[in-house]
Amino acid sequence: MAQQTAPKEYQNPHYVPKGISDHVAFGFVKLLRFFADTFFAKRYGHRAVVLETVAAVPGMVGGLLQHLKALRQIRDDEGWVKELLEEADNERMHLMTFIHVAQPTLFERAVIMITQAIFYNLYFFLYLFAPKTAHRVVGYFEEEAVTSYTHYLAEIDAGRHENVPAPQIAIDYWGLGAAATLRDVVLVVREDEAGHRDRNHLFADQLAEGKLPKGAGSGAH
Ligand SMILES: [Fe+2]
Ligand SMILES: [Fe+2]
Repeated sequence: MAQQTAPKEYQNPHYVPKGISDHVAFGFVKLLRFFADTFFAKRYGHRAVVLETVAAVPGMVGGLLQHLKALRQIRDDEGWVKELLEEADNERMHLMTFIHVAQPTLFERAVIMITQAIFYNLYFFLYLFAPKTAHRVVGYFEEEAVTSYTHYLAEIDAGRHENVPAPQIAIDYWGLGAAATLRDVVLVVREDEAGHRDRNHLFADQLAEGKLPKGAGSGAH
């Protein structure tokens, strides 16, 4: 059983863009990645705090708009609205966790406010007119989140970022052991992001096929 094999690289499957709207979604996310890489470089704690304030927006916007649509069409949403809202809630918990690891600078707080004002409105109208593309954007956004948290792990493992004790809020939320560390937190957060990635790409696929997505059920982090 104990074969001496190198640990398998963490897999982050990439959804290959299929049509114009997928390419637009991918290009948009890569542009955002470029800005984030330029701005944060290897300051992963700060990066997590600022970007989680953005990541927590789409689920709430999608949830609101799908809720309104279900009201207009007087039909059951089959748990989808709840899943979208839970995604936003989960992202906000990421934020509340990483705020114990890194405090944003005054400038970063200004960036958070300006980014939210722009991104919320942009995403609202994108979702209103092109929900499939909006979910594809989130799918790609989450691919990048998985990549970033993988880099964060590498920094911790290399000793370049101190592996501090896990914040209590994270221990409670994910049910981690009392001795859990930042490394354990990054691992569970990355799993959350991988889940969002897969679900949002699936939602985009289903909307493209004219199917209405169903919620995965409650309790999914
Ligand atoms: Fe997140
Ligand atoms: Fe996410």
